[in-house]
Amino acid sequence: MSGAKILLVGSGAREHIIAEKLFESKPMPHIYSYMSAKNPGVMFCSDKDMIGKMNDVDSIVTFAKQNKVDFVVIGPEIPIEAGVTDALRYVGIRCVGPRKVVGQLETSKSFTRDLVAKYDIPGNPKFKIFESIDKISEFMDELGDTGFVIKPDGLTGGKGVKVLGEHLKGKEDSLEYCKEIIIHGSRVIVEEKFVGEEFSLMSFVDGKTVVDMPAVQDHKRAFNGDTGPNTGGMGSYSGPKGLLPFLNEKHIEDAHNITVKVMEAIKKETDVDYKGIMYGGFIATKNGVRLIEYNARFGDPEAMNVLTLLKTDFVKVCTAIVEGTLGELKVEFSDDATVCKYVVPNGYPDNPEKNEKIEIPKPENGAKVYYAAIDKREGALYMTGSRAVAFVGRGASISDAEKIAEDACNTVTGTVRHRTDIGTDALVQKRIDHMDAL
Ligand code: GLY
Repeated sequence: MSGAKILLVGSGAREHIIAEKLFESKPMPHIYSYMSAKNPGVMFCSDKDMIGKMNDVDSIVTFAKQNKVDFVVIGPEIPIEAGVTDALRYVGIRCVGPRKVVGQLETSKSFTRDLVAKYDIPGNPKFKIFESIDKISEFMDELGDTGFVIKPDGLTGGKGVKVLGEHLKGKEDSLEYCKEIIIHGSRVIVEEKFVGEEFSLMSFVDGKTVVDMPAVQDHKRAFNGDTGPNTGGMGSYSGPKGLLPFLNEKHIEDAHNITVKVMEAIKKETDVDYKGIMYGGFIATKNGVRLIEYNARFGDPEAMNVLTLLKTDFVKVCTAIVEGTLGELKVEFSDDATVCKYVVPNGYPDNPEKNEKIEIPKPENGAKVYYAAIDKREGALYMTGSRAVAFVGRGASISDAEKIAEDACNTVTGTVRHRTDIGTDALVQKRIDHMDAL
């Protein structure tokens, strides 16, 4: 029996592990990849590849048609915002990745806050959406001691959200930041700041059924001790049995219920089934689970944690998503823990070194390697400026998994660095203590 023909869109470490998981399926599928740069890991799994822009809808549709693919898996958010899923639908090709109108869950933060409020779903902070600077100051005062978070409405690559007391010193620079967002043509959302521990709960969704993956904690700040600027994510960990050490099953149940309600609400609102990944960014507070945001795709690095643990054939999972039969499939994950650490160029994220050579020996300790912003030229690997390569360790405990990932990071040579604290006993204990002290 011949395997499915699948087009994969995207070229980061997230897409490398998606390609690898698809490639492991039986019968082996034919993978066609549409990338913005030649990721050697994705290319290894692909029959054919094409380089192009992530928002070039016509090129993606043409490549899918030429290769008569059975379905498409979309990695990043840009093609979702560009309407790739809708354009493919017109030519009869289905996608693991939502249509543009329901992809607003990620592409418009105001859409999600309004939806959650309208359908009376728990999890929203106090918030207001502004199109001009008038009255922002008043609302900041109204939020008082709880403080606030400022978010541009659209996509920002994870780098646009600023928190009072962390990225913003006081009201003055906060209002300046709001002005900057509005001048650049975006609406601004000002919302109550939550205090607690953040976690990502990603779910496979077919429009009717929500199947959760293990919970993961990402680390957005550039440097050890959660200092420095925000990044796309420097690394992440998942704990044994799909839990995190500072969460209990009720936290997961509450987050799951929010995702189910949001999936149902989005269908009522748009009459479109959400098919793909719903990635809930949640925070466990002293008053329960609250919603920070949704993304409409796998998290990066979180994809490396959860797909490492996925035991069910991934092509079967994708097929169930596009066919709307997820409720009939038993989706299983290993009980192991995982730690993923990114090695990044010096200067990342503000002034990253680019076009520097990097040497990535094959790990001998069982760590897995996933290429990200890497370009392969004349037999050598060069960094293109963003996160370069991810290493994943897996073990019975977070501690075991951390040692594997950390040792692998230290074998890389080049002008690079990584966060040595992600997944260590000390940092995990800090998270538990923080939660206990709330
Ligand atoms: N882990 C952050 C993101 O994927 O947006």
